[in-house]
Amino acid sequence: MAKPELNLLSCAFSEFTKASDSLMTYYHSLETQIRQLKEQVEEKNNQLEKARKYLHTILDSLPVGVVVLEKGPEPVFSNKNAKKLNGAGFIDSLKSSGETFGELKNRTGCFRWRREALNNGFEGREVVVFEDVTQMEKMKERLERDERLRAMGEMAARIAHEIKNPLGSMELFLSMLQQSKLRKVDRKYVDYILFGVKAIDRVINNILSYTRPKTLVLQEERLADLVNDTVQFMKVSIKSRDISTRVETFHERPFVFDPDLMKLVMMNLFANAMDAIDEKGCITIAIKEDRGYVVVSVCDDGVGMTEEVRKSLFNPFFTTKDKGLGLGLFIVYNIVKAHGGYIEVESQPNTGSMFLIYLPEKRI
Ligand SMILES: Nc1ncnc2c1ncn2[C@@H]1O[C@H](COP(=O)(O)OP(=O)(O)OP(=O)(O)O)[C@@H](O)[C@H]1O
Ligand SMILES: [Mg+2]
Repeated sequence: MAKPELNLLSCAFSEFTKASDSLMTYYHSLETQIRQLKEQVEEKNNQLEKARKYLHTILDSLPVGVVVLEKGPEPVFSNKNAKKLNGAGFIDSLKSSGETFGELKNRTGCFRWRREALNNGFEGREVVVFEDVTQMEKMKERLERDERLRAMGEMAARIAHEIKNPLGSMELFLSMLQQSKLRKVDRKYVDYILFGVKAIDRVINNILSYTRPKTLVLQEERLADLVNDTVQFMKVSIKSRDISTRVETFHERPFVFDPDLMKLVMMNLFANAMDAIDEKGCITIAIKEDRGYVVVSVCDDGVGMTEEVRKSLFNPFFTTKDKGLGLGLFIVYNIVKAHGGYIEVESQPNTGSMFLIYLPEKRI
């Protein structure tokens, strides 16, 4: 090969080597950049994942349910509380409603909700926030009941007091009349009137004794023993009927209460449960503890009651029975109240009822 050509070739090689060196350097720098970019993307992904987890933790720890809805049947997002409460078919009923806020009551409780359309690129979606206000509603109902029964009790006591004096005089004069010489038929009439007067007197005494503030005769006992004894005693009257009874004890410790009055509570609740069962049924009584309270639940699978009946249950003289006086639950209410406790009732027509008596385990 001629020298000029050799020089040319060597020049070309050196240029090629230079170019390939610079390519290599460029490639390495690109590689470094890609690695750095990858690391940055990974870091950003980690940060995003952390932010997502943080947001979900916050949303899950909220005491309310948060749901994001789109067109489809399933929510796009539900926080922990929403998943818990959604079982009640809450979202389905919400979808069909055109309201933007409201209150919803079903068998699982009472919920207050509000919905808001999303924007900033999330158009077409809406967020629904709902709050379980069951406990709050129960407490509100209890306070209203306390106020109503206090006023009713006061009025009943005042009326009873006013009736009692003339009734006493009537009874006295009737007894005097009974001792005088009377025709047989007149004596019979006097007997009838006296019978009626005595019946009214019994009712009045009942009202007076259960509307006055109670003085409790306290003793330390196991409530489970008292419940078992009362059930055994009451069972005598259901012998001829197909009613089974069950007592479940989850609280054994003795605590302070008035045994005679608590027996009266149990007897009234048991009698009502028996009345609620038509032909065949079961009464279950359980003793448990719940946040510092001893709870006795009396549950029957009888006729149950409407919401209307449930709201008036404790009113004096409220009864749906032909031979009922409507004083049983008023008495129960007053006794439980005197113990510093409270009552809750859950019931559905044709399903049964459950009365829950909450008694504070420690008296203040
Ligand atoms: N377990 C129950 N299941 C269904 N309804 C009930 C139950 N307990 C009470 N009720 C309803 O509440 C009403 C009031 O009960 P409450 O015990 O105060 O009076 P009563 O049973 O009618 O009469 P009494 O004064 O003889 O007890 C009842 O008439 C009944 O309608
Ligand atoms: Mg009763």
